[in-house]
Amino acid sequence: SRSIRLAVIPGDGIGQEVVAQGLKVLTAVLPEDVKLETKEYDLGAKRWHRTGETLPDEELASLKEHDAILLGAIGDPTVPSGVLERGLLLKLRFAFDHFVNLRPSKLFPNTATPLAGRPDIDFVVVREGTEGPYTGNGGSLRTGTPAEVATEVSVNTAYGVERVVRDAYERANARPRKKLTLVHKNNVLVYAGHLWKNIFDKVGQEYPEVTTDYLHVDAATIFLVTQPERFDVIVTDNLFGDILTDLAAAVTGGIGLAASGNINPTGAFPSMFEPVHGSAPDIAGTGKADPTATILSVALLLRHLGHEEQAARIETEVAADLEARGDAPRTTDEIGDALAARVAG
Ligand code: IPM
Ligand code: MN
Repeated sequence: SRSIRLAVIPGDGIGQEVVAQGLKVLTAVLPEDVKLETKEYDLGAKRWHRTGETLPDEELASLKEHDAILLGAIGDPTVPSGVLERGLLLKLRFAFDHFVNLRPSKLFPNTATPLAGRPDIDFVVVREGTEGPYTGNGGSLRTGTPAEVATEVSVNTAYGVERVVRDAYERANARPRKKLTLVHKNNVLVYAGHLWKNIFDKVGQEYPEVTTDYLHVDAATIFLVTQPERFDVIVTDNLFGDILTDLAAAVTGGIGLAASGNINPTGAFPSMFEPVHGSAPDIAGTGKADPTATILSVALLLRHLGHEEQAARIETEVAADLEARGDAPRTTDEIGDALAARVAG
């Protein structure tokens, strides 16, 4: 489309700084005839301290009127753990039915990783985004006593699993290697594990060209470090996907480069793009934050909205920039400026 209505949630800590660079690069890469309209939302720790609100209905309704959302980072040590995570970030993912949490991993040149110099590492994790242990289905009995009992139930529906598995097959089928790996733990989590495996096998019959594989999550962590090139597309549940993608980021160049998309492929709601990293309050305001993960998230955003050429240009220029600069230290602004200049080309 020839216009993008973008909602921007800078959030907490380094979120503000990295989002500014993401917008800089987005503005630079867009062709002149694509109109960018942004609306910034004041959500996060400061808002919560001021008003006690995390995500009021009115703002949720207003966010819905956008083509996409760009989010920096949510979370602050001055706010009790879980308040913003559940009340803002997860609330957005659930309200906008972001059932595909897309997290690509690529080994870029000159990045600090134990896997530097390895053959092409290029895989994508399709993490389920609306179910699993993230639904808040649980409780505590005799809280705070020595007899406390806590449950945190993992919710897996046939509907929810099938739609994300199908999306993963589509993505695998569109890639040259056409390989899809299901990661779960069906030797222990037998009910959810079997639901996932049965649906994985059933949907797979519709994709005869896709090679499939199954790994228990513990084994998958080994292979992510020892043989990451064996992966093409991984599909997994919400919590396994959370953990695997931090590991994937660490081995492919660090969390400063890991991008993500919280996607509703139906288009019923705006999809949301954010770096995998958190708000890093310890380095907020120092200019040390690497905005590359946010800039690569902007590329995913552009691809989702159909601007493939611009998305690919950002990714190519990030690689070229890392190649040229090596790991010489640069500030947040310097990285953003360099990439904005490159993509404007
Ligand atoms: C992520 C984060 C979130 C998650 C937290 C902050 C709720 O770790 O995006 O990976 O667990 O999904
Ligand atoms: Mn995480």
